[in-house]
Parts: sequence; structure tokens; C-alpha cells
Amino acid sequence: MSDPFANRGNRDASVVNPRPAGTAEGNHHSGPTRPGHSGDPFLIGEGMRGGYGKADILNGCTLAVEKGQIAVIVGPNGAGKSTAMKAIFGMLNLREGSVRLDGQDISALNPQDRVKAGMGFVPQVANVFPTMTVEENLEMGAYLRGDDFRETMQQVYELFPAVADKRRQNAGELSGGQRQQVAVGRALMTRPKLLMLDEPTAGVSPIVMDELFDRIIEIARTGISILMVEQNAKQALEIADIGYVLVQGANRYTGTGAQLMADPEVRRTFLGG
Ligand SMILES: Nc1ncnc2c1ncn2[C@@H]1O[C@H](COP(=O)(O)OP(=O)(O)OP(=O)(O)O)[C@@H](O)[C@H]1O
Ligand SMILES: [Mg+2]
Repeated sequence: MSDPFANRGNRDASVVNPRPAGTAEGNHHSGPTRPGHSGDPFLIGEGMRGGYGKADILNGCTLAVEKGQIAVIVGPNGAGKSTAMKAIFGMLNLREGSVRLDGQDISALNPQDRVKAGMGFVPQVANVFPTMTVEENLEMGAYLRGDDFRETMQQVYELFPAVADKRRQNAGELSGGQRQQVAVGRALMTRPKLLMLDEPTAGVSPIVMDELFDRIIEIARTGISILMVEQNAKQALEIADIGYVLVQGANRYTGTGAQLMADPEVRRTFLGG
């Protein structure tokens, strides 16, 4: 794949990265990384524009999160929240904008190489293999790792004891909340620096939601950045270091979770009063 950003900005990375696009090791096609901008947040998807066909879904939206912090994206159905997550993970070709992680411009990397660069992604749908056991799901999460992943698996089981008890059961037999735990656990198996979660509490009870949010806070405290889309906007903003209200693929409001919760306009329009 050619680098769609090659002609924009001062991005001549040949000095620091002489490897031309398309010659990365392996037979998958992924471009080179380039240096990020100084003063970048840990992760930033900046000025993202693009969609699935002719019409853009993302209209210049910017999402960022610092190390060990929790960023929450809220907004109406169809606002482009999942599309923005896919763009950051490299599942969508951006027409404009860039994605930078930990000091590197990773805009030209495919999803697999973004995982290697430190991203873990739990998509909104189909985020576990239902006919595989819990343990097999976690093993699948580790497939890019060549080293011994048993310790990481143990850590996942300590974080989610309920799924540890069901490690030999098929993921499809678990409750919705436990399936989401497996999905998060699977993403943790690559030891990501950034964990992206698209509606991790969809379809779970309020108690299970609180429990999952507690685990997400625990994960962030280990230094992992969290970028999370949530329908349970109030509860999610309560644990957010930074919150984004996305409307029609663009940033409508940005602030700390507390600022957004205190904004009457945000409350009335997006948080149900
Ligand atoms: N694979 C696709 N092909 C074409 N259009 C798509 C595709 N996925 C999403 N869209 C469209 O892009 C727009 C944004 O969808 P997206 O799933 O990103 O919204 P969202 O904010 O995540 O919504 P929700 O809250 O319902 O999850 C919608 O109009 C949707 O119909
Ligand atoms: Mg969505």
C-alpha cells in the first residue's frame, strides 16, 4: 500500500527510517513509521477525515489520550464513534489526518503492525470467538507473541476471576458481561500500551457495568492508556480524564469528564438532562 500521507507536511523520515514503504519484514503490506510531533499526547488521531465510500463519515475529528489516562468518546448513534476507533486502529483508510502513538507516526501501518506497536482493540461487535473456550480466546489474543504468555494469561485471570473459573467453557456460553471480560482479556494478551474499547458495557446490567469500569480503572493505573466509546455516557464520564462528544464525525465538545458533566448544554443534549 502506498503511503497516502507521503506528500503532506514535513514528514521526510528517510533520515531516521530508511526503509521504504512496502518492504517491511514479512509479507503483509504496511508502511513505515515516522517520528511524531514533539509535545504529542501518548496517542493522537488528529484531523481524521474518511469513510467507507464517497461520503466522509469522519469530518476532521481529533481524539487523544495521555499515558495511563482514560479517554471516553460519547455521542449519538451513527456519529462515527466506531468509525473513529477503526481509523485509529488502521481498519479504515484516512483521506486526511494522522495517527501517532508513543512518538511515532503510525498512519501507514496495518492493524497487525499497530498491535505490534502497542495497540489493543476490542471492537463493538464479534469481539470473542463464541465456539472457542475462554482459554483459547486468550491464546488467540497472544498469537502475535513469540514469547511465553502464560504470565499475562495469569494476570488476566487475576483481573477477571469469574472468567478464570470458566476457562474451559466456550465463550459463547458465558453471560454478556463475562464475554466482554474475555474480549478485554484477549486484547490485554499482547500487553498493549493503549487499550481501545468500543462499548465494553453494551448489554450488561448496571452492577456488571460498574464492575467493568472498576477493572478499566485498574488497567489504566498500570500505565495503559484507555480510549473507550460508551453509551452509558454519564457513568463513563465519571471515570474519564478526558471526554469527547462526537457529532457527525466531528468534535462537538471536549473537556475533562467533570467539565462535560457540569456543562448544561452537554447534559441536556447528550446526557439526558
Ligand atoms: N462498514 C460500513 N460501510 C458503510 N457505512 C458504514 C459502515 N459502518 C458504519 N457505517 C456508517 O457510518 C456512520 C457512522 O457509523 P458508526 O458505526 O461509526 O457510528 P457510531 O457512532 O459508532 O454509532 P453507534 O452508537 O450506533 O455504535 C453511520 O451512518 C453508519 O451507517
Ligand atoms: Mg459504534
